Amino acid sequence: MGVNWRNLSVLIGAVVLAGAWIGQGQADSEVVFPMPPGPLYVKECGSCHTAYAPGLLPARSWQKMMNELDNHFGEDASLEEPERLAILRWLTDYAADGPNANMLMRRIAASIPRGAAPQRITETPLFRHQHDEVPAHIWKRSRIGSPSNCSACHTRANEGRYPEREVRIPRN
Ligand code: HEC
Ligand code: HEC
Repeated sequence: MGVNWRNLSVLIGAVVLAGAWIGQGQADSEVVFPMPPGPLYVKECGSCHTAYAPGLLPARSWQKMMNELDNHFGEDASLEEPERLAILRWLTDYAADGPNANMLMRRIAASIPRGAAPQRITETPLFRHQHDEVPAHIWKRSRIGSPSNCSACHTRANEGRYPEREVRIPRN
């Protein structure tokens, strides 16, 4: 079989496209998650802790959580029904396995077993992997307290931003 120039150029085109696609993936090393528009989400879900980006968990996790807000990690985080429904809608629209997922979000979704609906971001495999170089004693510093306190180290976590260059680990 001789070289088929037409097939070869199609192949080269595909390689160039794949390169562009991988380049796009690296732009995701920006590690920015879409956040719900307007102040409602940060007001209602960011008053006790970081306003976690919806893309950090799959939709089924958020559905379960939003159905049990009266007993939310031992606290009552109940909302009026219109607010609850609006927030649930955003959480599922921008979830890790939702229609707006970027590559990082899809990796998060893929790391979670299908049957599981984890309620803690900090217990998901990708979170553990991304933080495996943070020594245990650092999590206990007074200005951090626990791994759930994303915004202690990720200075713009409430905007869904987690890029490496915005990480500042408090010294105490
Ligand atoms: C009244 C305070 C309060 C409000 C309001 C609240 N939460 Fe929480 N949330 C907590 C507490 C307490 C925890 C457990 C924190 C810990 O153990 O570090 C928690 C934990 C979480 C976690 C797990 C964090 C982890 O460890 O990975 C998620 C996700 C979460 N909340 C989402 C939400 C969402 C979404 C809303 C809005 C609907 C919300 N929370 C509103 C108190 C609150
Ligand atoms: C003790 C400080 C600290 C806390 C608290 C923390 N992180 Fe991180 N995070 C880091 C460090 C350090 C890295 C590794 C730096 C890097 O490679 O980006 C990292 C990496 C990440 C990355 C990958 C960034 C990248 O460039 O690939 C994500 C996403 C992330 N963290 C999300 C979270 C979320 C979500 C929370 C809260 C549930 C959280 N982190 C809490 C320190 C922290």
